[in-house]
Amino acid sequence: YEYGATGAEPRMYTEMLEQPASVERTLRGRLDERFGTAHLGGLRMDARELRAVQRVKILGCGSAYYAGQMGAQLIEELARVPADAEAASEFRYRDAVIDPDTLYVAVSQSGETADTLLAVEEIRRKGGRAVGLVNVVGSAIARACDGGIYLHAGPETAVASTKAVTTMFVGFALLALQLGRVRDLSVADGKRLVAGLQQLPGQIEKVLADEDRLARVAATLSQAQSMFFVGRVRGYPVAREGAQKLKEISYRHAEAYQMSELKHGPLALISPEVPTVAIVPDDELTDRNVAALHEIAARGGPLVVVTHEDVDLGELSAERIDVPRNEKELDPLLLTIPLQLVAYHAAMNLGHDIDRPRNLAKSVTVE
Ligand code: AGP
Repeated sequence: YEYGATGAEPRMYTEMLEQPASVERTLRGRLDERFGTAHLGGLRMDARELRAVQRVKILGCGSAYYAGQMGAQLIEELARVPADAEAASEFRYRDAVIDPDTLYVAVSQSGETADTLLAVEEIRRKGGRAVGLVNVVGSAIARACDGGIYLHAGPETAVASTKAVTTMFVGFALLALQLGRVRDLSVADGKRLVAGLQQLPGQIEKVLADEDRLARVAATLSQAQSMFFVGRVRGYPVAREGAQKLKEISYRHAEAYQMSELKHGPLALISPEVPTVAIVPDDELTDRNVAALHEIAARGGPLVVVTHEDVDLGELSAERIDVPRNEKELDPLLLTIPLQLVAYHAAMNLGHDIDRPRNLAKSVTVE
């Protein structure tokens, strides 16, 4: 395939390749190796205020919402503070109860998404504290919040968000670390995660270097009209983000599902024509996930499994994509990258205009 009318590479492509540098910028100056923590001065919250947070509620739209779901899991795991993510577009319409002990986190690349901005304004009007996880400096959401963390991903202009999503994940990891270390997270665990975060840029390079193989997987997947993306717990928001990216630029139907919910309905749709992309990290859930893959294989469903080298898939016939290992809490980031490349190459294979997908705008600033 050729690169557009100008012969230039799509912006999505260059932005994907920038991810090692973007992640490095998100981390720069914020890690404390000695105490195994993060310093986020922009939050404008001291240790006492961070300790007083009883819940965390993350609000964003589209891919920012899925990154928020990954972030909520990180916060619960590292800080043991109840956390969840909700689509800002739903939150603002449901007359939500605003709780003064909850930390609201608005996540947005552009900082201009109307639904997220209106959610922040409503929270603040009712006395809640909202902080932003935003890329564009000085944007409307950044200005409307009480404080925040800039992503420093660099300008992102492709409609399909890539480096913003991965830097959002890193931003949440920093927040989770800081919240955790003023509570029960041990210094040893803090140091373990700091070291894990520092490894990410190099590991992202490795995943990106696997592009030719991922392009071949994408070419096969792009022939299917419809497919599933499945994952459990940490893998589920990764599946949602993978399905979103594929839909946006390839226009193929992709549905994300929790691995454990398959048997409650969608298994009826599995057939040789409907492939499944499964997210199966090497963690405490691997055995259960592999058992679910057997259910899919038994119905003739083709499988692509995004996993780690040590995971034993037994007799399963599956196309496997191995990503480097890191600390298990940080797995979602490295599992997300191959799905970006798969979506990109599927769309290229189908001859679509990657940076101008039909019906979509880069930021949705109208209600
Ligand atoms: C991502 O690929 C999408 N184009 C879209 O879901 C996007 O993430 C969403 O509209 C939110 O945008 P924001 O991060 O600028 O608020």
